[in-house]
Amino acid sequence: MSASPVATVTAAAVSADACAAECADPCCAPLPVLGRDVAVPLVTGGEVTYAALDYAASAPALQRVWDDVAAYAPYYGSVHRGAGYLSQLSTDLFENSRVTVHEFLDCRDSDQVVFTRSTTDSLNLLAAVLPADCQVFVFETEHHASLLPWQDANVTYLNAPRTPAQAVETLERALADRDPYGPALVCVTGASNVTGEIWPVRELAAAAHAHGARIVLDAAQLAPHHPVSVRDLDVDWVAFSGHKLYAPFGSGVLAGRADWLQDAEPYLAGGGASKKVARRADGGVDVEWHTTAARHEAGSPNVIGVYSIASACKALTDAGFDNLVRREQALVRKVREGLAEVPAVKVLSLFGDDAPRVGVISFVVEGWNSSHFAAALSAEYGIGVRDGLFCAHPLVRTLLGSDPQDPGECGAPEAEPGERSLNAIRVSFGAGTPDEHVERFVGAVKELVANGAQWNYRTEGGRCVPAV
Ligand SMILES: Cc1ncc(COP(=O)(O)O)c(C=O)c1O
Repeated sequence: MSASPVATVTAAAVSADACAAECADPCCAPLPVLGRDVAVPLVTGGEVTYAALDYAASAPALQRVWDDVAAYAPYYGSVHRGAGYLSQLSTDLFENSRVTVHEFLDCRDSDQVVFTRSTTDSLNLLAAVLPADCQVFVFETEHHASLLPWQDANVTYLNAPRTPAQAVETLERALADRDPYGPALVCVTGASNVTGEIWPVRELAAAAHAHGARIVLDAAQLAPHHPVSVRDLDVDWVAFSGHKLYAPFGSGVLAGRADWLQDAEPYLAGGGASKKVARRADGGVDVEWHTTAARHEAGSPNVIGVYSIASACKALTDAGFDNLVRREQALVRKVREGLAEVPAVKVLSLFGDDAPRVGVISFVVEGWNSSHFAAALSAEYGIGVRDGLFCAHPLVRTLLGSDPQDPGECGAPEAEPGERSLNAIRVSFGAGTPDEHVERFVGAVKELVANGAQWNYRTEGGRCVPAV
């Protein structure tokens, strides 16, 4: 596994020319993804190839993932439940996928990989197994999936830091005040789903451990863009989703230390989690639960979802993850430099221009409602981006300078088309993105700002849509 994501990005940033030369190499071509040839109609007439620039929400499936799933599909069978050949084959595939994910994340030998539905599910699982009186520390800048699961615990929300160093200082200050003997957990994102900025995970992990706390890494946005090494970052758990890692079949991962998971009641009670169940003389039932990952995987497992994650892990590794990082960094530069040429565009950033970041960039355009702008990008250029508060309401509102207490509506425009919005626009891309998509996007932003939209739009159901 490669060194820290932060180091990787910084190295890529300082060798821009070398990267540009390297990206002419066919090994740096985008990975084939499904949907790359899909044509969509333009409201102004004709069709264009769809430019999927909303990877941060859900990335397209890798062609290899799709092919692997299709090749397995005829052999599909029940997992952990059947005596038949296909059941045994499917069980092997499921358990081997666990090993692949363990390797992909460079986990410690004793770490467990638990398959879940998503990052949200993984973090809720961890919240459900916290030891009694556990204190939780989480920055207000987190995605709601890492901000909200701790409501039943003794949670401390930390103010938004404006530099990576400030993040570490803020955490250290908060941990210094805590009861040093009780259990504590820090939850932090690896890369922001709003700014794309990479957080100082290793330093935060060191601070957490120095104060006797544990740390979980929300790698929903980091894992698809960077190698993640549990050992190197020294995090206790890591969570990510298949659908953001080019494997959109409904599975996710929580990997890390086994003890809190083993000591807690199963997340879901049912078959698969239970080893032995017997009626008691008093009429009730006694249950002996598994102590392995199965304890929290009750019910029939989603073998296709899990296998697709393993397939994506292998595809990224085989492509040379460092090559993918270099290529993506070239796209990040292209977009940021293009947007910097448009004075009306303000890119949202917590840590400033020099911060290492992944291919996730949010911005607002002066004089434009973000929903209107996103609708025009779609209808007139065939470009799919996202607008709204990106399920990180406090962070976006802090970045926009509005009241972080105000929850707002995810995706709802707060003004009529043409007026300024309190929402933002997000463009995001990754291993399957051709250069043409980001070039079209930058050109479209420039044209829309210079000439305005070519079509009329109206608000319908809280969103801007072409007025046809
Ligand atoms: C940083 C981050 N964490 C967690 C999540 C939740 O992921 P999921 O919706 O797959 O559970 C997201 C989704 O956008 C995210 O960006």
